[in-house]
Amino acid sequence: MNLGKKVIYQIYPKSFYDSDGDGIGDLRGIISKIPYIAKLNIDMIWFNPFFVSPQHDNGYDIADYYRIDPRFGTMEDFEELVAKLKEINVGVMLDMVFNHCSTDHEWFQKALAGDPKYMKYFYLRKAKPNGDLPTNWQSKFGGPAWKKFGDTDLYYLHLYDKSQADLDWHNPDVRKEAAKVVNFWRDKGVTGFRFDVLNVIGKDEVLVDSTDPVQEKTLYTDTPIVQKYIKELNQASFGQDSETITVGEMSSTSIANSIEYTKPENHELSMVFSFHHLKVDYENGQKWTKKPFDFMELKRLFNEWQSKMDQGDGWQALFWNNHDQPWALNRFGDPVNYREKSAEMLATATHLLRGTPYIYMGEELGMIDPHYYSIHNYVDVECLNAYQELIDEGHSAHDAFEIVKTKSRDNSRVPMHWDASQNAGFTVGKPWLKPTDQQEINVENELTDGEIFNYYQKLIHLRKTEDLISDGHFQAELEDHPQVFAYRRYLDNQAEQLLVLNNFYGYEPWAIIPEDLQNKNAHVIIDNYGEARDIKLKDAIQLKPYQSIAIKITK
Ligand code: NOJ
Repeated sequence: MNLGKKVIYQIYPKSFYDSDGDGIGDLRGIISKIPYIAKLNIDMIWFNPFFVSPQHDNGYDIADYYRIDPRFGTMEDFEELVAKLKEINVGVMLDMVFNHCSTDHEWFQKALAGDPKYMKYFYLRKAKPNGDLPTNWQSKFGGPAWKKFGDTDLYYLHLYDKSQADLDWHNPDVRKEAAKVVNFWRDKGVTGFRFDVLNVIGKDEVLVDSTDPVQEKTLYTDTPIVQKYIKELNQASFGQDSETITVGEMSSTSIANSIEYTKPENHELSMVFSFHHLKVDYENGQKWTKKPFDFMELKRLFNEWQSKMDQGDGWQALFWNNHDQPWALNRFGDPVNYREKSAEMLATATHLLRGTPYIYMGEELGMIDPHYYSIHNYVDVECLNAYQELIDEGHSAHDAFEIVKTKSRDNSRVPMHWDASQNAGFTVGKPWLKPTDQQEINVENELTDGEIFNYYQKLIHLRKTEDLISDGHFQAELEDHPQVFAYRRYLDNQAEQLLVLNNFYGYEPWAIIPEDLQNKNAHVIIDNYGEARDIKLKDAIQLKPYQSIAIKITK
């Protein structure tokens, strides 16, 4: 299998299409939209979790890994979905959340009832002799990472919400449960798996206090034992089928570790999601802040990751958007003056890199953050906690709201816009999150008059037909250019080269063509301002606002 030729689409089931009017998207809704999905010619769909869950963290708090939550449909619906997608050669990638399970899960409930077998599934610890919590760790969703374990003198660890209890992977029974779940879904025809926050499963057996928030992450992130657990899971489940695609969501990971997780000889994962490039608009590395993105840092990160992953034979997932991120268009583009051009530029910048691109539903329409005017429009546990913390720290309600507005995960969870009607054609009921801007941005408009969807189709087609894109090496170009992100892709024999220029700004900078390519006859394979065409390369090109152009040079 050539991972470089694959393109993956992500569907957040709760927000894709509601078939029964309860305001929440569902599997039958997805089935009815397969003809739309087919137009993109993607290879696989990653579905966020739709397993039984109390939904405190929108399904990342799983209470039963083997059943579909009735609000999303039935097992029959799921089987039909897999079969119908297979007919159009699209695989299914499921989200496996094994760092933690819901406190409603029977494992946790049995543990609470005192069953010693299941008590060993979790990190249960006593308070310190002085009565303090077992460690000073913070939950990633705010507040302490420990909560009282029922009526006992113990506390359980939760790196995320208090309803998500961390599973203790030191226990071989936990690891067997994980493999069993993966195999259950493999038997249903699932050929892709995304593993949620996989690099934090390797906590130490003895948990100690941290000295500061940055050091704290190192106590449980990317520890060597994670590699061992992934290898074991690979052997016991998905590794038995060479066609399966896996991706590990790696929180605060390093390039060196990402190479180890993904180089083929290690038999761990197909690829990783890393997030450093999505923190270039964080003040001092803190998410709940507001600052314009640092373009030079963004370039530096792309260049470093691409070059080193290439040299180390690692493999990256390429993406800007997902259900945890505000829309990239608001962060790195210009949604007001150049919505279409900047959406296309952002797509080009990542789609022509070395790796496997992911498209988050609605990205192909140029979706943007909703225009909400009240904190009451938001529902996500993470942003509501953050809002309260910002207020407690002394921010005014106005400032706290402005930060939440640009950072909330609800931004990208807003229902897909199908048409211009009041509920964006998503539901006949009351949508669980309110759509805004659907008059302008929606599938109907996009397919008749828009240009972004069609541009995505071209990018996907290029990846499937140009070996330079799917198999080529990466080389950074114009590293000091303050507006243009440029790179070159080349094959081992160097016979073909691809020069990609992406203008991240609304003005018209010049880009100097690398000397060895000047005066060459070349072919523009994609340009968001024009058609494919033959050109003669000069010594420089002036780019239009948010222009992307990819030029192929054959020696
Ligand atoms: C990452 C998921 O993408 C996010 O939505 C979730 O809240 C956390 N992991 C915890 O499972």
